[in-house]
Amino acid sequence: MQSMKPVILVIDDEEAIRLFLEATLEDRGFEVLTAGTGQMALEMAVERVPDLVLLDLMLPDMTGLQVLENLKERYPHLPVVMITAYSQTDSAVQAMKLDAFDYVSKPIQLDHLLAVVTKGLDETAEARARFSHETQADLFGGADDVVPSHSPAMLKIYDVVRKIAGGSATTVLIEGESGVGKDVLANLIHRTSPRQSFPFLEINCAALPELLLESELFGHEKGAFTDAVTQKMGLLELANSGTLFLDEIGEMAMPVQVKLLRVLERMTFRRVGGIADINVDVRIVAATNRNLAAQVRAGLFREDLYYRLNVVQLHVPPLRSRQDDILPLAEYFLSFYNKKFSKGFRGIGESARRVFEEYAWPGNIRELRNLMERTVLLEEGPVLEREHLNLTAEDHSSLELPALLEDLLVNPLPRDGVALEDLVHEFESVMVRKAYEAADGNQTRAARLLGLNRDKFRYRLKQYGIKESQ
Ligand SMILES: Nc1ncnc2c1ncn2[C@@H]1O[C@H](COP(=O)(O)OP(=O)(O)OP(=O)(O)O)[C@@H](O)[C@H]1O
Ligand SMILES: [Mg+2]
Repeated sequence: MQSMKPVILVIDDEEAIRLFLEATLEDRGFEVLTAGTGQMALEMAVERVPDLVLLDLMLPDMTGLQVLENLKERYPHLPVVMITAYSQTDSAVQAMKLDAFDYVSKPIQLDHLLAVVTKGLDETAEARARFSHETQADLFGGADDVVPSHSPAMLKIYDVVRKIAGGSATTVLIEGESGVGKDVLANLIHRTSPRQSFPFLEINCAALPELLLESELFGHEKGAFTDAVTQKMGLLELANSGTLFLDEIGEMAMPVQVKLLRVLERMTFRRVGGIADINVDVRIVAATNRNLAAQVRAGLFREDLYYRLNVVQLHVPPLRSRQDDILPLAEYFLSFYNKKFSKGFRGIGESARRVFEEYAWPGNIRELRNLMERTVLLEEGPVLEREHLNLTAEDHSSLELPALLEDLLVNPLPRDGVALEDLVHEFESVMVRKAYEAADGNQTRAARLLGLNRDKFRYRLKQYGIKESQ
């Protein structure tokens, strides 16, 4: 479990004050970070966002006001309490104008300081609760088929969705494993913007051969190619003023990528076989379950298009790292299918809950949904228990290594620790194998995927006993 203590960042160039505040605040149950310069403080605040900041006005490398401004720009809701000397009342006033929460003057009176800190923390807690509540209410208003997430990573995503809801044509790239809810999110982006009253159109870039994809996107003029017997409008035109969702963008053929880039840069395009420039206002939301950056490195996806798409990037985490979401989703699907199949399920029992928590959900929300559909259809209940689930033993074995790694990246270390060397080796062998597969056994390309030269790559093939393909 991550510690739930409020984190206070103390920024002061005097070591004695830092030590004093650190000891005092830690005694009162806070977690304290300290920085002696503005630069260091700003770096620390990026790594770990504090709940409250105590900031000295006089710092060696920049003024406290500059630090305040910078912090407020990034975290408008962060309460920053200034520490000032008596002679600095002007600056204190200035700080309040820059939206400092309050100030305490030196010599510091402990009671006063603690009162200010408590008040600051209370107000942010309230603001946060209000904010998250409002966010969810306006995001999900009218969407009764979407279960809101409470995982911190998803809350951040909703926050971004809310910020881009203004409706300008900002491009959004959604990355995430299969079944995590990328389609659902794309829909949400559309539904929460003024574009909602215009079309939301969607196309799967992997499903169509190149020329067909092109004519679907851009439309064509009569006679542009053999089958073009009439003129046809493309999705870009049809989605005008709305949103076009390009699913599995990683599979888009290079020539189409070039044309799409042009659209994104100028919001104008031509129908296949056409000469007139057509202007459109379409928000492009693209999704992929691949790592597009790696595709770019492997020369499979255009770098310029990647950066153009990547204006806003949303990475949807897998279900296994959203533990708090599993049960609410399961309950939603249970009641949904219960109604649909007129069954008598009344809830989820303890044993089934445990299975849900331990299981790695390789197919994410889609897998959970299918499992619930099957179970409700075939079983009788009334309480859903472990034996109804029909998961085979290996299904709920512990996490696969890639899953474990991913998990470690977002969660704290397990209590009993992990062996770093084993992890690194395992990870390397998985990556080498994957790159080799992705490159269809072409060593030069596989090496490039991993940023290695061919010798180093071959060395690893041997090291991990991977058979070279002929
Ligand atoms: N928040 C949610 N509440 C309810 N159902 C959800 C939610 N998110 C996803 N689902 C359901 O899970 C399934 C998978 O979601 P979705 O199709 O959006 O995933 P995806 O990431 O686009 O998958 P793929 O990569 O395979 O295209 C769908 O049936 C969807 O309705
Ligand atoms: Mg999808």
